[in-house]
Amino acid sequence: MTDRGGLDGAVVADISTSYIDGSIGKLIYNGYAIEDLAENTSFEEILFLLFNERLPSRAEYECLRETVAAKAAIPDAVIAMMKSLPADTPAMAVLRTAVSMLSAFDPDAENLSDKEAAKAKAFRLTGQITTICAAWMRIVDGQVPIVPRRDLSVAENFVYMMSGDAPDATACAALNVYLVLLAEHGMNASTFATRVVAATGSDLHSAIVAGISALKGPSHGGANSEAMRMFLEIGAVDNVAPWFEANIKTGKRRIMGIGHRVYKSNDPRAGILRRHAEALAESSGERKWLDVAVKLEETARADDYFVQRNLYPNVDYYSAIVLYMLGLDVDMFTPLFAMSRIAGWSAHVVAQMGGRLIRPKANYVGPHDREFVPMDER
Ligand code: ACO
Repeated sequence: MTDRGGLDGAVVADISTSYIDGSIGKLIYNGYAIEDLAENTSFEEILFLLFNERLPSRAEYECLRETVAAKAAIPDAVIAMMKSLPADTPAMAVLRTAVSMLSAFDPDAENLSDKEAAKAKAFRLTGQITTICAAWMRIVDGQVPIVPRRDLSVAENFVYMMSGDAPDATACAALNVYLVLLAEHGMNASTFATRVVAATGSDLHSAIVAGISALKGPSHGGANSEAMRMFLEIGAVDNVAPWFEANIKTGKRRIMGIGHRVYKSNDPRAGILRRHAEALAESSGERKWLDVAVKLEETARADDYFVQRNLYPNVDYYSAIVLYMLGLDVDMFTPLFAMSRIAGWSAHVVAQMGGRLIRPKANYVGPHDREFVPMDER
C-alpha cells in the first residue's frame, strides 16, 4: 500500500444528500446549512429532504410524520426476543438483532428492486428503531414497553415511550436538534457499509444491519458512549489536567469524541450541541459534566499535539453531554445515533439500488509459488 489505508480520499459515489468542507467546518444537507436546519426544522423534515431533495410543505410534513408514527409499533415476537436477552447485552447488539428480526415481519422485506417499496420500508424502520430503543430501556429497567402514539413526532414518541408521561417540550426540542444534526454525513463508515450491501442487490434491512454494525465501533458512533465514560472516569474538573498527563500525554489513549477523518477545523455540529448542552445545564442547574468536557477540550486545544494534527471535538463529544442530561443511560447513546442516521442510511440505500457492485482491490503481500505439503507431512 502506498498510503495509510482507510480509503482516505477515495470517491465512491455522486451524492446530493450532504456536503462537507472539513477545512472550514461546513456541513450542508442538500444545499441547506446545518445551522439553519438545526434551528428551524424537525427530524421528519430532514427525512423528507433526504429522499426528495426539497423541504416538505406542511401537509407533506404531516403526512410523513403520521406515516412514520403509524408504523412504529414492533411485533410482540420482537419484544419477546428482546426480553429473552441478558440485561447486560450491549444496546447496539440488541438493536442490530431486533432490526434483523423485523425483516421477517416486513411485507416488502424481499422486494429488492422497487424504490417506492424500499422507501416505505425505510419509513417503517425509522419509527420501529425509535420504539426498539425506548422498549429496550424499559425492559432493562424491568418495566413494560410502551406502544408509540400516532399523533407524535419521532422525538416526541421517544420521550413519551421512555416514561409513559406526556412528552416534555424541552427534552423533545433538544432531542429533535440531536436527530437533525446526526441524520446524514456524507460517505462515513456506516453509510459506506450500507451502500456496499445495497450494491450487491441485497435488501434494506440487511443494509441497515450493516450500518448499525459499523456505527457500533468506538472509532465511529460508539465514540459518544466512550466519550461519556471518559468524562465520568475523569470525575471532576480538577482531575482533567492529571488525567490528561497520565492518559493522553503518555500516548496510552485517545480522547474519545475528538478528531475526525474529514473535519480539520471545528465540526459545526459540535458547536451547536455545546450550546444545547449549555442551555440544558442552565435550566437544570447541573453543569458538572459539561464543565469537565469544556476543560478537557481547552486542555487538548492548548496542547501542540492536538493543534498540529488539527484535532477538534467532533459531533460525539458534546452530544454525549446532551444525551446524558436528557437522562439516557450511556449504553443507549449509540442506538440514539442510529435512530437518527437511519434517515441518511436509507436515503443512500435507495440511491444505491440498481447501481454497480462496489468491489475494491486489495494489495497482496503474501508469498507466491509455495510447494503444497500434505497434512501428515507438515
Ligand atoms: N486523541 C489523540 N490523538 C488523536 C485522536 C484523539 N482523539 N484522534 C486522532 N489522533 C491522532 C492520531 O494518533 C494520529 O497521530 P499520528 O499522525 O502521530 O499517528 C493523527 O491524530 C491522525 O489520526 P488518524 O487515526 O490517522 O486519523 P483518522 O482520520 O484515521 O481517524 C478518528 C479519525 C478515528 C475519528 C480519530 O480521530 C479517533 O480515533 N478519534 C477518537 C474516536 C472518535 O471520536 N470517533 C468518532 C468520530 S466522528 C463519527 O464517526 C461520528
